[in-house]
Amino acid sequence: MSTRTPLIAGNWKMFKTCSEAVDTAAALAKNVADVSGRDVMIAPPYTALHPVSEVLAGSRVSLGAQNLFWEKEGAYTGEISAVMLASVGCRYVIIGHSERRQYFNETDETVNQRIQAALKGALIPVFCVGESEQERDSGQTFSVLDKQIKDGLKNFFAKDLAKLVIAYEPVWAIGTGKTATSRQVQDVHEFLRSLLKKSLGQELAESIRILYGGSVKPDNIAELMGMPDVDGALVGGASLNPDTFSAIIHY
Ligand code: PGA
Repeated sequence: MSTRTPLIAGNWKMFKTCSEAVDTAAALAKNVADVSGRDVMIAPPYTALHPVSEVLAGSRVSLGAQNLFWEKEGAYTGEISAVMLASVGCRYVIIGHSERRQYFNETDETVNQRIQAALKGALIPVFCVGESEQERDSGQTFSVLDKQIKDGLKNFFAKDLAKLVIAYEPVWAIGTGKTATSRQVQDVHEFLRSLLKKSLGQELAESIRILYGGSVKPDNIAELMGMPDVDGALVGGASLNPDTFSAIIHY
């Protein structure tokens, strides 16, 4: 039995106005008030972080952001730092999501800088990795993940990574309704944990949570969570509705 506390995280992407986010967060907090033995996080858009943090105060739901910039402050128009996120109550930050890699030129190197900034700022990074459909079809899944993990975690001391969370999100399963099978997910998670063991040692690798993301729904979460190396989920579309997300959290 693993001692890792499952984490069910919701990534709201670029959805919800401020008042919609507040209403959804309030409904979710109510729906999951009875949950124990698992951590819950939502990552609303930046514009809603502060009011949502007020609604979540004292609830079972933690607040996360969807990205951050690595500098502390400065002339970086449009960017947000770890200090700023912490100041509005964030505990988590999603880093290196495939949509950021695809549309905003995020690279393994900038992902590495963001993870460093998150940890320095006492935020828990949710570090996303995953292969594209074409990479899977050409048998490159493990080599792609190996590079993303090695470059993303370059120059860290193992002790600094105790709070790290990894999210495996195959790009072909995000928002497509195509979920990876639980066997495919377990195979990748086992591979990721073996990489972590090699670079960080057995004990730390066993404590790091590896989430699965990509078309997670109330009807597939239980099977995914039944896999020994699946420690939670990063949920996009199905986290936008407080009843659907609550059903996932109560798997
Ligand atoms: P999805 O998104 O659940 O809508 O597939 C997952 C994600 O992008 O984190």
